[in-house]
Amino acid sequence: MNWNGTRVLVTGGAGQIGSHLVARLASYGAIVTVADNLWRGKKSNLFDDDGKPVIDLSRNFFELDLTDPVNCQRATEGQDVVYHLADVVAGINYVFGNQFSLFNANLLIDSNMLKASIANGVRSYVYVGTACSYPAERQSKLNPPLFKEADVYPASPESSYGWSKLMGEMSCELAMKEKLLDIGVLRFHNVYGPHCEMSPEKSQVIPSLIRKALRHPQEEFVVWGSGKQRRAFVFVQDVVDALEAVLLKGMNQGAIQIGPDYSTSIKEIAECVRSISGKQIDIRYDTTKPEGDVDRAADWSKARDILEWSPTTSIESGLERTYAWCERQVFEQVGQAG
Ligand SMILES: NC(=O)c1ccc[n+]([C@@H]2O[C@H](COP(=O)([O-])OP(=O)(O)OC[C@H]3O[C@@H](n4cnc5c(N)ncnc54)[C@H](O)[C@@H]3O)[C@@H](O)[C@H]2O)c1
Repeated sequence: MNWNGTRVLVTGGAGQIGSHLVARLASYGAIVTVADNLWRGKKSNLFDDDGKPVIDLSRNFFELDLTDPVNCQRATEGQDVVYHLADVVAGINYVFGNQFSLFNANLLIDSNMLKASIANGVRSYVYVGTACSYPAERQSKLNPPLFKEADVYPASPESSYGWSKLMGEMSCELAMKEKLLDIGVLRFHNVYGPHCEMSPEKSQVIPSLIRKALRHPQEEFVVWGSGKQRRAFVFVQDVVDALEAVLLKGMNQGAIQIGPDYSTSIKEIAECVRSISGKQIDIRYDTTKPEGDVDRAADWSKARDILEWSPTTSIESGLERTYAWCERQVFEQVGQAG
């Protein structure tokens, strides 16, 4: 595809996944605009390693709350392609403590964004769902069968986050059936990598463990739950490969799952993070805290067949790269404070 001059909106483009996608598409010559309310994203994610902004932030960055339909109209005007990545995403602590407000916000964002994109004649629209939408009872034991895309129904996700993201998929399916615009839907497993949120309030498990290791011994290295819970972790650059490929090869073909066909336990992640840190750390497992679904992984044959995608980054290499990025953030914060 010739990206040169293509007008692309990335919602949530200051977030973990969106910011990497923005950098990649801008490097191909696309005119990339970001809409993000900075609830979890950061403008600093839109700078490269040399400190240069990857897009023209004064013209192409809009701090907008996309729960508001007027803002969605404004953001989508004149765009050829919309990658809709903005939604309320956070760790288990936030998700289970804010079920109603999170559900409500994501329904508004997803519904308003799709409607505005149709109204403004956007050619291609990409939506991202989540493995958290799979039925809770099918991931309640260790080593369950690999998920196929169709296993999402009959629906019974564990959290309102999983439900909200599934409703987003459903509205895309309806618009696709009525041929209102070209739609690509990817369903991600657990994404990790640089540009992650590290705060105790909103971070997901990997950045949270890395923060605890970096701050150790000031912060105790506590794992929520038994550590036996397992997830199919996928590195952010592998996810961006899929986002790039879906526009070329995966439009109007239903949801395509993105994640490896093996899972890694949180205990294994914690031990790997400890080993990368090089510190003497005692890991404490707090079984009074929720740990979510027990185990899941992806049958990614649809992604292989349609997108020619495969997960290429090993968990060890991905964790090392994520740790190095997080370490720089912590050093910079300490430097600024001093
Ligand atoms: N990280 C994962 O493990 C994972 C897994 C499956 C699916 N996803 C999906 O991928 C997408 C991107 O996730 P991410 O990991 O980059 O998370 P992220 O939180 O880093 O990115 C989401 C972005 O949306 C923005 N946002 C939130 N509410 C908004 C609002 N009302 N208006 C405008 N912007 C708003 C946030 O500020 C953030 O920058 C999300 O749709 C998420 O559901 C993520």
